[in-house]
Amino acid sequence: MKVFNHSKELNALKNKLSAKSIGLVPTMGALHKGHITLVEKALSENELVIVSIFINPTQFNNQDDLKNYPKTLESDLLKLKALENNIWVYAPEVSDVYSNSVTSKEYSFGLLESTMEGAHRKGHFQGVATIVQKLFEILKPTKAYFGEKDFQQLQIITSLVKQEQIPVKIIACPIIRHEDGLAMSSRNTNLSDKQRAIAPIIYETLQKAVALKEENSLEQIEIWITDFFNKHPEIELEYFTVAEEKTLQKVNHLNGEKTRAFIALKLGDVRLIDNVKF
Ligand code: PAF
Repeated sequence: MKVFNHSKELNALKNKLSAKSIGLVPTMGALHKGHITLVEKALSENELVIVSIFINPTQFNNQDDLKNYPKTLESDLLKLKALENNIWVYAPEVSDVYSNSVTSKEYSFGLLESTMEGAHRKGHFQGVATIVQKLFEILKPTKAYFGEKDFQQLQIITSLVKQEQIPVKIIACPIIRHEDGLAMSSRNTNLSDKQRAIAPIIYETLQKAVALKEENSLEQIEIWITDFFNKHPEIELEYFTVAEEKTLQKVNHLNGEKTRAFIALKLGDVRLIDNVKF
């Protein structure tokens, strides 16, 4: 395994190697089994795998969130080292990626961005698209791997690649869950023991919503979910939406299109998201 802090050094070596295919797994570190699964898939499909570890400041709409985001570079590197050795890690400083101007580019993602995470975290996806485009331009991967937990992010990146005509194949990978159903997330490490014990309720509730759909309208299910979480003092529900996978637009009736139920909530200060096929 090789670790690079500067893209120039990485690219100098990459050019000498001229690998037939390069798989990129972009991360913000605090690696968990979900990330490792992406890396393993990338290893199985590419000659060289690059894992980027970079906490991207422009995608945080809240400075406290950025400050509190888990930073665990040393243990991240140990986890990657335990895998095969054709992994390169790109862990740059902000200046290596953004030069002097730490700002987002302006993109137009239309309705894909105006809902759910985009509506609740202003500017978030402009920051995500900016860093992902920069990583694609710097590292020129053949394929890039993203988890479906951030399903809206996945759709935004798919749209980015199309709009900017970036020659990379986006590979969507299923959500990896703990045994108790909680979706793996770097943010889970910020949960207290008590909050961690409560957190599986998110997936349990999503599954209950799926079970209810046989005999209830979407409106009834939404009311049930809202009431359920209102009774839970530790949890603040931000949204529960059933939306089309392709457009991310909320549906009021199931219409034969592929849909997912999306949820975002706060457990204390920790904001968590999840989704299931609906
Ligand atoms: O999903 C993430 O961890 C981040 O949003 C990403 C894609 C690495 C961009 O910073």
